[in-house]
Amino acid sequence: MEIALGADHAGFHLKEEIKGELQRLGHGVRDLGTDSDESVDYPDYAARVCRLVTGGQAGRGILVCGTGVGMSVAANKLPGIRAANVCSEAAARLSREHNDANVLTLGARLLDEHQALGIVQVWLETGFLGGHHQRRIEKIAELERKQE
Ligand code: RB5
Repeated sequence: MEIALGADHAGFHLKEEIKGELQRLGHGVRDLGTDSDESVDYPDYAARVCRLVTGGQAGRGILVCGTGVGMSVAANKLPGIRAANVCSEAAARLSREHNDANVLTLGARLLDEHQALGIVQVWLETGFLGGHHQRRIEKIAELERKQE
């Protein structure tokens, strides 16, 4: 799968580790920055990654900031994005099974590398369950349409 990847300065080092892991797992990676630990604004990177996901050039997106919170708040402003800020493998699995999350956000200041890579792997290999969860996803899309 093609994965769009982005981070702010707080997430830069973890993003680099995730990039290596994604490549080892055989995924294509679109790294949209940032490229150093110089201070930048996380919404800029959330927008870059989410545009590739909603445009279909990437199957999923992964965003890293200090907590994952800012990235998820920004990403969820974009129609068609269901971003999940995840701190455990259980939440990663459920965000895919129930919410069909298409963007994963991670907190580099809250997770060690081992935890983060485990979350990424579970999140990528878990499918959406559909069924009654699909109805709820459609209601989320309906909420977006009502805001337009
Ligand atoms: C940057 O200091 C920090 O605010 C950012 O990485 C993120 O944690 C925001 O939610």
